[in-house]
Amino acid sequence: MERTFILLKPDCVQRRLAGRVLARFEDKGLNVIAMKMLRITPDLAKQHYAEHVEKGWYPTLEEFVTGGPVVAAVLEGLDAIGVVREMLGATNGLQAAPGTIRGDFSSSRQMNLVHGSDGSESATREIALYFAEDEICAYEPTITPWQR
Ligand code: TYD
Ligand code: MG
Repeated sequence: MERTFILLKPDCVQRRLAGRVLARFEDKGLNVIAMKMLRITPDLAKQHYAEHVEKGWYPTLEEFVTGGPVVAAVLEGLDAIGVVREMLGATNGLQAAPGTIRGDFSSSRQMNLVHGSDGSESATREIALYFAEDEICAYEPTITPWQR
């Protein structure tokens, strides 16, 4: 089992796609083990996108991700990091393959709906950036409705 971090960006929330995007991950077999809605501050944006802060396009990215509420979540499952990245598709929605989340719903290079960690190091770092240890609710299935 592996954990990854996802962020439903402001375009995803405002286009009311949060439920459908989460459903795709759940349908694939990933468990939501932490989730919260929040507004990203400029400081948090700089930490999240530390590798991009010096890029020419960073200021507009910061303006976008701090511009409205987001949903942050931790997903757990087999090969969760790779599976989520595969399901997201290419960064630019115009280039992302049909069938991927970005390919199906985005035609923008920046407003591409969902962030997903790109490796185990970034997953660990990003989970810790958004969630305290006691906000992560990993579980073993306990529901056996046929018994009652
Ligand atoms: P990046 O880490 O390259 O993409 P990904 O989210 O697929 O890992 O870039 C981070 C985000 O920055 C990306 O999701 C959208 C935004 N971005 C721009 O706004 N302009 C750009 O030219 C690029 C490459 C990314
Ligand atoms: Mg990236």
